[in-house]
Amino acid sequence: MKIDILTLFPEMFEGVLYSSIMKRANEKGILEFVLHNIRDYSESKHKNTDDYPFGGGAGMVMMPQPIFSCLDAVDKDHTAYRIALTPRGDVLTPDLAKELSQKDSLLLLCGHYEGIDERALSVMDREVSIGDYVLTGGELPAMVLIDCLSRFIYGVLGSEDSNKDESFSYGLLEYPQYTRPAEFRGMKVPDVLLSGNHANIEKWRRNMALEETRKRRPDLLEKLK
Ligand code: ADE
Repeated sequence: MKIDILTLFPEMFEGVLYSSIMKRANEKGILEFVLHNIRDYSESKHKNTDDYPFGGGAGMVMMPQPIFSCLDAVDKDHTAYRIALTPRGDVLTPDLAKELSQKDSLLLLCGHYEGIDERALSVMDREVSIGDYVLTGGELPAMVLIDCLSRFIYGVLGSEDSNKDESFSYGLLEYPQYTRPAEFRGMKVPDVLLSGNHANIEKWRRNMALEETRKRRPDLLEKLK
C-alpha cells in the first residue's frame, strides 16, 4: 500500500514511520510512505499556508491553494483514497481500520491551525477522527491511523502476532500476559499457564478477556452482542 501524507510538519513522521514494525513493513515493500510538505506548494511570496478566517474569529485557516496544488502534483487523477484527519470525521474503529487497510493507496491530509478551508475538504473521500478530543494537528492522528490499519495488512505483523489478533479475543480487551520468571517478588504466574494444557489455557484466556472487558469496558461487550 502506498500512503501519501500531506503535512506542514513532515519531520514529525520520521521517528514513527521509520522505526520498529512500520520500518520493517517499509523495508519489506508492504508499505510505502511518501511525505509531502504542503508549504512547498504555496504560491505566495512568503510561502504562507494559512490566513484569517472570513467572518472573523480566532485562529487561522489553511488556505486552499497550497493544498490543491499539492493534490494536483501528487494525485492528479484522484486514484488514491483521500482522507483528511479532522476532529469532526468518522471515529476510527477496528472495522474502519480494516476497511481502509484494503485500499491500494491512501492519501492523508493533515490539518493544522484552526482548520482547513472547506473547499479543500470537499475533494476528500472521507474525514477521520481518532477520538472526541481536539489535538493541535492531524499529524498524530495520521500516524495513529497508519499504525492501526497496517496491523490488518498481511505480512506487517510477524506470524505469531497476527494469529493472536485474528483469534478469539477479537473485539475484547487483552487477557493478562506473563513472562519469566514464574514467581517475581512473591507474585506468581497463574498455574494454568504453566500447566502445558493448551485447551485449559485457551479457556482461561477467553474467560479472562471476557472478565477484563466486563470490568473495564462493558460498552464493548454490548457492541459484540
Ligand atoms: N485533528 C485535531 N484533532 C483531531 C482528532 N481528534 N482526530 C483527527 N484529527 C484531528
